[in-house]
Amino acid sequence: MVAPATARLLAAYAIGLADDLLVSTLLATRAPVVLCPAMHTEMWEQPAVQSNLATLRGRGVHVVGPDAGYLAGGDTGPGRLAEPGEIVTACASVLALRGGGDLAGLRVLVTAGGGTREPLDAVRFLGNRSSGKQGHAVAAEAAARGADVTLITTADLESPVRVQRIDVDTAAEMEQVLAERSDGADVVVMAAAVADFRPREAAPTKLRKADGVPEVVLEPTPDLLAALAARRPPGQTLVGFAAEHGDPRPGAVEKLRRKGVDLVVGNDVSAPEAGFGHDTNTVVIVGSDGMQLNVGPVDKRVVARAVLDAVVDHRSRR
Ligand code: CTP
Repeated sequence: MVAPATARLLAAYAIGLADDLLVSTLLATRAPVVLCPAMHTEMWEQPAVQSNLATLRGRGVHVVGPDAGYLAGGDTGPGRLAEPGEIVTACASVLALRGGGDLAGLRVLVTAGGGTREPLDAVRFLGNRSSGKQGHAVAAEAAARGADVTLITTADLESPVRVQRIDVDTAAEMEQVLAERSDGADVVVMAAAVADFRPREAAPTKLRKADGVPEVVLEPTPDLLAALAARRPPGQTLVGFAAEHGDPRPGAVEKLRRKGVDLVVGNDVSAPEAGFGHDTNTVVIVGSDGMQLNVGPVDKRVVARAVLDAVVDHRSRR
């Protein structure tokens, strides 16, 4: 990936001029190449530049951007380097397109969410502080490793590349989508913080202050993961999460047994560098085969990698 790719770089690469280390590297590799052009608008619009880019595109080089916006000289227009997130997404997509990852051929279903939202009235809901970042990272990592991924989410986060996304709000909606989709999955990862209780009745309109403080009666939601475990097809791997206060190991081991699943990823949501809302996490992964692994504090994407490694390992030892 070359970011920024200048007009000179495009020209040298297009004619195969190996006069510096960068172009020599590009000419010497068989790896896919992503170029992110950045230059002033007048340069970007030059037929010479566009022609070099067309030549490179024709040879299979991937091009991201440029965007239109503020340029280094204080002027504005097309030629601004694409945003880092856009570049990373494009690179992940190029790598995924190459296929052949260790999860190729596996259908992976992931639930994620900023917690389910259980309606109280027409405008209010009961929720929780889970951000959905860890579940989205698991979906992104599984797709990058070649899996066919469906993500059921309540979070307002970007969709990972090559992932089929289904948005839901409530535990009941998540239950419905799981009922439709889970039978065909080889692996189900329940990273969503599903509500344990919901209002028994949701008022059809907004509750008014003038009508006094409402008395809200709660009822339990169904345990979706335990239900999946009870009717799982042969060969399906089930992964649960356990949000704990303090050492997550005992709770993770207890949930592993109680819910009848293969792996549980426990985290201490009270730890400063882990858990809800953070980009990093510290977890313990426990397996029904006795495996216990501490991971972190690391980026949630690295946790996702460790979780999927544990899934691969667990499946290989069945
Ligand atoms: N879960 C679920 N359905 C629920 C609640 C939780 O499927 N109604 C799943 C979560 O997605 C997670 C796992 O169960 O994978 C553990 O969730 P957690 O909230 O930590 O545990 P609970 O079962 O709610 O137990 P407790 O309230 O005792 O912590």
